[in-house]
Amino acid sequence: MKYSLKTGSAEKISADCVVVVVWNKGLLSDEAKSIDSASNKCISKLTRTEDFTGKLGDTQLIYSPPGIKATRVLLLGGGDSKKLTSKNALKMLQCGLKAVNGLNAASIHFALTSITVKDQDPAWLTARLAQEAESTSYRYNETKSKKSKALAGKAISIAPASSGQRKTLEQALKQGAAIGKGINLARHLGNLPGNICTPTYLAKQATVLGNKHAYLAVRVLSEKQMSRLGMGSLLSVSAGSAEEAKLILIEYKGAAVSSQPHVLVGKGVTFDSGGISLKPGASMDEMKFDMCGAASVIGTLATVAELKLPVNVVGIIGAVENMPGSKATKPGDIVTSMSGKTIEVLNTDAEGRLVLCDALTYAERYKPRSVIDIATLTGAAVATFGSHVNALLSNNDDLADSLLKCGEQCLDRAWQLPLWEEYQEQLKSNFADIANIGGPRAGTITAACFLSRFAEKYKWAHLDIAGSAWDSGDQKGATGRPVALLVEYLRSQKA
Ligand code: BES
Ligand code: MN
Ligand code: ZN
Repeated sequence: MKYSLKTGSAEKISADCVVVVVWNKGLLSDEAKSIDSASNKCISKLTRTEDFTGKLGDTQLIYSPPGIKATRVLLLGGGDSKKLTSKNALKMLQCGLKAVNGLNAASIHFALTSITVKDQDPAWLTARLAQEAESTSYRYNETKSKKSKALAGKAISIAPASSGQRKTLEQALKQGAAIGKGINLARHLGNLPGNICTPTYLAKQATVLGNKHAYLAVRVLSEKQMSRLGMGSLLSVSAGSAEEAKLILIEYKGAAVSSQPHVLVGKGVTFDSGGISLKPGASMDEMKFDMCGAASVIGTLATVAELKLPVNVVGIIGAVENMPGSKATKPGDIVTSMSGKTIEVLNTDAEGRLVLCDALTYAERYKPRSVIDIATLTGAAVATFGSHVNALLSNNDDLADSLLKCGEQCLDRAWQLPLWEEYQEQLKSNFADIANIGGPRAGTITAACFLSRFAEKYKWAHLDIAGSAWDSGDQKGATGRPVALLVEYLRSQKA
């Protein structure tokens, strides 16, 4: 996708399609008005029929209207002009882009100069347009013989309100596109099947990314190196798998060496069969998505590097495959984590926390400013929140608040659950320092309680993305969440 700014009145823009907003009851935006008066009222004649009323997200295409330079005009319903919240604006953009993607039009101009979004500065809509242009054009093709038509070649333009706005809007377009691309990278990795996207494959993709950017350095630790570090917990998960586990370290330097980094820890279980505590067969295929936390870390670092954000960021990914086998960890086995704490593995399907705890201990060596782990950790998060929310738990209220705020800002929202002392009791073990499950009640919280024992030395937040990371059913596919949230958070940080 190519992005640019084009100045001029909507009727004079040369493009294959010009998009203008029409509000509820056929009320015309300024740009729609200019098209209307230049085209012998072709819009108001249409809205008078009430075939198209400007309902939020509705679209109506007009072909070669007289007096208009563009070949097509797309009317885009904006709903109630006084209620254009960022959520509604997002829906509007998505519907507009979907309509445009269905056309054989190479250049599309969005005439949105007069459109103001509640509680957002003018650049927000521009950035979001680019982000959504990227993400609505994503298609999974990798393992299909018949590839769907590429949409990436389209040229998208938007009009600045004044020449003084140029720089800001150009920056906004770059920013939005970079976020959209990071989201798509995360989706792509998530969607790949487990027999392609193995721990080794993930490590390779991180290395490829590292080679693309001067400020990114990628290192990959082998099982042998992890064993020397004492990562007995992480390694116990991959014990039954023929695939070698990898610890992937992605270091981004956007600020002075002395500036403490933010660390993102991703769960990278490339397939979660449950291990000896084998999962039931229904929907087990979806456990290829159990590396979506890792994918979001890679997607976020790709965006951060592309935007050259002025912060230091480290991504740590525990990449493993969880399989049964004669060497697999068994219920009742006790393993020793890198922290020295012993863990009784009562259920081999609670493997994510076993991977993350060693990665969290490894994070200590970076003296992090904050640590956020991202994991498809519990079915309980899906039961609690469905797919709309990233479950958030934290040992620091400021960190939690800023993640909640960033989630609102970019509409990749989180909701906080309590990480109270009372829940810790559920993790008592008769034979080890801690058990890896806390019983059937409050599963998302007890999983976070487990992690909190390994995150005592820094400000830490946990995002359980089991519900938000992918969609099921006929729209099955990774969503790329919470890349937008993580980028928003890192953008809000000072070096
Ligand atoms: N990867 C799963 C969590 C999951 C399940 C995500 C379903 C999305 C949909 C995780 O490793 C797991 O199996 N968790 C168990 C924990 C339990 C054994 C304490 C769960 O949630 O059932
Ligand atoms: Mn599991
Ligand atoms: Zn899992």
